[in-house]
Amino acid sequence: MTVSIDLMGRRVLVAGGSSGIGLGIARRFLDADAEVSVTGTRATPDEYADTDLGGMSFHQLDIVDDAAVTALAASFDRLDVLVVSVGTVAYSRAEYTMDIFRSVIDVNLNGVMSVCTAFHPLLSKSAGSVVLIGSTSSFIATPGQPAYAASKGALVTLTKSLAHAWARDSIRVNGVAPGLVSTKLTERSRYDEAVYEASLESIPLRRWGDPADMGDASLFLASDLSSYVTGQMLLVDGGATLM
Ligand SMILES: NC(=O)c1ccc[n+]([C@@H]2O[C@H](COP(=O)([O-])OP(=O)(O)OC[C@H]3O[C@@H](n4cnc5c(N)ncnc54)[C@H](OP(=O)(O)O)[C@@H]3O)[C@@H](O)[C@H]2O)c1
Repeated sequence: MTVSIDLMGRRVLVAGGSSGIGLGIARRFLDADAEVSVTGTRATPDEYADTDLGGMSFHQLDIVDDAAVTALAASFDRLDVLVVSVGTVAYSRAEYTMDIFRSVIDVNLNGVMSVCTAFHPLLSKSAGSVVLIGSTSSFIATPGQPAYAASKGALVTLTKSLAHAWARDSIRVNGVAPGLVSTKLTERSRYDEAVYEASLESIPLRRWGDPADMGDASLFLASDLSSYVTGQMLLVDGGATLM
């Protein structure tokens, strides 16, 4: 039996959909015939020359700018699904300095809450659905990136808290926690052959994830196939965190 997910006519926003995992998710929603909008940090879609944003509308967004988040929400008249895939990380132990620690938390946690609250009224009207993007770092230590790990850990309880609070509005709130996926966030590890080979050893399914894997999980969590699922952060990591 083939089960296909049809989101014909549903209005979807993927914040952070200009790149990587968010773009893979946006494409999956397009395949399901949804009307998809994405955000990125650059001013226009033309500034993403190497990225195919075909079929999607584009909005510029700096997620730490509350006024910009409010203005973005005001530009929508309807929303059924909100995916927040915006995220950042700092390497070389930079997250052990307080200004960098704060800036990562600001994007990965405060920014996510800001977008969720700004779109809450529209999601209430549509009895919609939210999908946040966590990480394996939501569940295990990431000693090189303490701010990243703290922000992603917080998304687990933010997901539960919003799911509980907004159930009365018939809004479901869930998350996808990806394992390693090749994007611009992870290019340092992906293109260091020794690091890459060692990472494969730690993944029982012996491959990095693809943005489309995260798209499939997000589609499930946003669709009626998961209509009794809320407050969950679904690990999609090839088994990397099983031991
Ligand atoms: N890649 C992995 O292995 C992995 C694993 C676990 C979790 N994740 C999570 O997956 C999510 C997406 O990451 P990715 O790997 O796909 O990285 P990515 O390709 O760098 O995409 C990040 C997205 O966030 C946007 N963004 C960055 N800073 C922003 C800001 N201040 N305001 C608004 N938008 C901002 C980027 O816009 P621009 O395109 O304009 O830069 C882009 O759309 C993140 O939450 C990340 O933590 C990734």
